[in-house]
Amino acid sequence: MRWFQIMYLSYLLIWLLNPWHLASEDFQGSTHLLPLGADGINYLELKASNPLARLQSGLDRGAIQLSYDKDKGGYLPALMQHLGIPASSQILVGSKTSLQRERISPNRPRAILFNDDIYLGYVPGSKVIELSVADPIMGGVFYTLEASESGEPIMKSPQQCLECHASSKTMGVPGHLVRSFRTDARGQLDLSSDGGLITHRTPFSQRWGGYFVTGMAGPPDHRGNQFGDSSNPHLMETLEPRISLADYPGERSDIVALMILDHQTHLHNFIARLHHEGRVAMQTYGHIRYLRHKVDSLVDALLFANEAPITRPIKGSSGFSQWFETQGVQDPQGRSLRQLDLHTRMMRYPCSYLIHSQAFKSLPDPVYDATLKALWEVLTGQTRRQKLNHLTLSLKREIHEILEATLHPKPEYW
Ligand code: HEC
Repeated sequence: MRWFQIMYLSYLLIWLLNPWHLASEDFQGSTHLLPLGADGINYLELKASNPLARLQSGLDRGAIQLSYDKDKGGYLPALMQHLGIPASSQILVGSKTSLQRERISPNRPRAILFNDDIYLGYVPGSKVIELSVADPIMGGVFYTLEASESGEPIMKSPQQCLECHASSKTMGVPGHLVRSFRTDARGQLDLSSDGGLITHRTPFSQRWGGYFVTGMAGPPDHRGNQFGDSSNPHLMETLEPRISLADYPGERSDIVALMILDHQTHLHNFIARLHHEGRVAMQTYGHIRYLRHKVDSLVDALLFANEAPITRPIKGSSGFSQWFETQGVQDPQGRSLRQLDLHTRMMRYPCSYLIHSQAFKSLPDPVYDATLKALWEVLTGQTRRQKLNHLTLSLKREIHEILEATLHPKPEYW
């Protein structure tokens, strides 16, 4: 064998042994940072149009008031109520991974709370509440809310957030982050244990390093709750006495909320990436034909292709599952894309509920149309891909029927 053949084979071997090639498969490996100032993207010049932008202008004009609770969380309770973010979505991160990392430790973790399009980061004792949103046009947009000197709430949109929130870890667009590092008792990371891009496909054994995980039942093997001590339980029933819950809006760091976060952040980034790429393609070529494989990849992600298998039933305990299932739209038979399975897979009907989100519906028209067409071809059996074999005939039919009743706008052929 020639030296270059040996080199080639060793690269191939390293690539095959590395489970993260599955993640890069999403975008045929192109998770490089898109130039945010490029024509067709102009991220910094776009006008934000999302619930946080509306809150910001409401606060600036004095049209919205938020009450301040000096004993518990400052503006946090009023903010959660205004935005419709439930306390049951709380997830606690003990690793020193984010903006306010000096304040964060396994004994005083950061809380992340979220709903379908808004994420909120809260560190007890800090005046700054961090917020992000899946803006239908811009993709991820970032804000802070804090009390001004006079005590009034003031919202800003700092550029600094993009230092971490726009990289290959967010699929190369301003977006949302979930990491998984082995973390020691003080919250310091073992950098060699980077879990890569975390999605619903990531094996559980690689997930949740640095996070607390609570619930009634879950996978035997994951990186959560360890914090340098591998004898810590994989699933905690309660966080007390380790963490002083009086400082937090919720009481848990729910396993089901974590699974939804893994899925949702990835899909939000994916949609944002296709949004920007679609606009650039239209501007450059006047069509999106070169994006066909990426559209197929989005369809695969929407349909939970290669989802990490659940080998033991999973059950949360914060009330998040109940909250989650009762949101959104149902078809006339009472079926919805938000029904959870949690016995062998995440969702009863494996097609992402984000298909109903403003971000998905606001994809550039040619991308939206191509995605729905490709999805329809899968559901009607005209396209088959091995990675979609998990969709039985009856699942395809049921998903098709649910979408038929709930999707707006819907193409004529549907
Ligand atoms: C030093 C890197 C870093 C900077 C700078 C940073 N973040 Fe993050 N952020 C993270 C990481 C890592 C996560 C994943 C959760 C964790 O580890 O706490 C995250 C998660 C979040 C989340 C949860 C959902 C999401 O969008 O990922 C919010 C909200 C958030 N950050 C807001 C902000 C805001 C607002 C700013 C700017 C004021 C900011 N962040 C700056 C690293 C950073």
